[in-house]
Amino acid sequence: MFSSLCCENKVYKNLVNGQWIDSNTGNLIEIFSPVDDSIVGKIQAMSKKEVDFAIENAKEAQKSWRTIPVNKRAQILYRAAELLEEKTNDIAEIMMREIAKDKKSAVSEVQRTADYIRFTADAAKSMEGETIPADSFPGFNRSKISVVTREPLGVVLAISPFNYPVNLSASKIAPALVAGNSIVLKPATQGSISALYLARVFQEAGLPAGVFNTITGRGIEIGDYCVTHPSVDFINFTGSTEIGKRISQISTMKPLLMELGGKDAAIVLEDADLELAAKNIVAGAYSYSGQRCTAVKRILVVDSVANVLVKKLKFKIEKLKVGNPLQEQVDIVPLINVKAADFVEGLMKEAQEKGAKLIIGGRREGNIIYPTLFDNVTLDMRLAWEEPFGPILPIIRIKDRDEGIAIANKSEYGLQASVFTKDINSAFYIADKLEVGTVQVNNKTERGPDHFPFLGVKSSGIGTQGIRYSIEAMSRPKAIVINIGD
Ligand code: NAP
Ligand code: G3P
Repeated sequence: MFSSLCCENKVYKNLVNGQWIDSNTGNLIEIFSPVDDSIVGKIQAMSKKEVDFAIENAKEAQKSWRTIPVNKRAQILYRAAELLEEKTNDIAEIMMREIAKDKKSAVSEVQRTADYIRFTADAAKSMEGETIPADSFPGFNRSKISVVTREPLGVVLAISPFNYPVNLSASKIAPALVAGNSIVLKPATQGSISALYLARVFQEAGLPAGVFNTITGRGIEIGDYCVTHPSVDFINFTGSTEIGKRISQISTMKPLLMELGGKDAAIVLEDADLELAAKNIVAGAYSYSGQRCTAVKRILVVDSVANVLVKKLKFKIEKLKVGNPLQEQVDIVPLINVKAADFVEGLMKEAQEKGAKLIIGGRREGNIIYPTLFDNVTLDMRLAWEEPFGPILPIIRIKDRDEGIAIANKSEYGLQASVFTKDINSAFYIADKLEVGTVQVNNKTERGPDHFPFLGVKSSGIGTQGIRYSIEAMSRPKAIVINIGD
């Protein structure tokens, strides 16, 4: 597969039971580049029958995979990390074409993923069980002891989004595998080719046949079938809140780990280092054109320092390079598709119609939205509440930190938030009251480093990722109680 990288006539197969197979449907999905509309390759639109085969095969393969010692599973992960690193530039090139990611971010994603896989293997080897004597509980003595180990759950269905097709697939695959599960990966259609190269890496690393199978096809056509499949034991989903809520409604009794949408606020207080705040906000809001769940998606700034902050933000936004990631290193790239660009444009127009002050940007060329900053955004505007997944940032002026907390918590989302202040007591006062998974103090909102807990509350998710947390989420305790005669 690596020999001939993506080229327009390349048809990508799926990995099932250790073989790369074509779908019998003969239905292919053409993947076009958001950069120049050139064809990147074709993927299979698998049938429900083929989904059955991939999942049932994974179920069968898991029975022996669970018996492989953790140190052997870890060895395969170390090899996968090594192979991934060797192929960094190849896979980065594919991502640049398939999801219009700039080269620096694409290379960083692949390298981060190799580190993630290695760290996961290390973590698994140090995760032991426990023994619990009964006599700490009233009425019991030391004749009873519980020996607790961790068990895999079975077949993990991993569903990943377009924006991190390698990292947000591997962040499901590696912990699932090292815990003894088998994995069936359904990547985002736009991102499938990048994800299939990752699957190839895991196969070459020595995974037994069937332990890792892939399913490609449009979520709208096979998604419901996958998430309600009787042989799926766990669903690890990253994507939009809309789809996440749908999955949680129909996948009865299946344990879920979900990372969904966000509307991360940057709260800037009057004593903040405004230069630091501006630097972090611009990096946090506009990298990969804001197509990150943890992007800074609103600024709540105390009015007394807002004008100075606006000037600093504008100065830095003006320096952002807009263009074609295949031609040069750029900051702002085309959005993933026309629908995404239309959505962002709609938010821009509504904000302007309702009186928001355009500071910079507000322009669109094809799928490129120029980095945009609005001041004086009010709470009646969609931009104050909706997730753009694009390079557009609203400034909402507040009178004090309590108003900032109230507005931040009014959002349906609860992924992350940033607080910029020099007063650590104020930082903790705010952090304590924010209804989010993570509060960044004097830094942009972001997921890494990947061993930190990463979670969303409210409409931003269910459960906690982060290497050890993910291994725990995709495994369970097994208690063996020894009753020793008196
Ligand atoms: P999306 O449209 O929700 O798609 C995510 C995944 O779900 C894709 O693989 C998609 O397949 C699949 N899918 C679609 N319909 C499905 C169904 N009925 N059942 C099962 N799976 C289905 O999200 P996206 O456009 O890829 O990513 C953008 C959104 O995801 C944003 O809201 C962003 O905030 C969120 N996101 C969150 C995080 C996080 O860590 N919290 C990270 C990245 C993205 P198809 O591609 O074939 O439709
Ligand atoms: O949207 C993907 C989410 O996981 C963000 O990751 O590392 O860019 O904060 P990061």
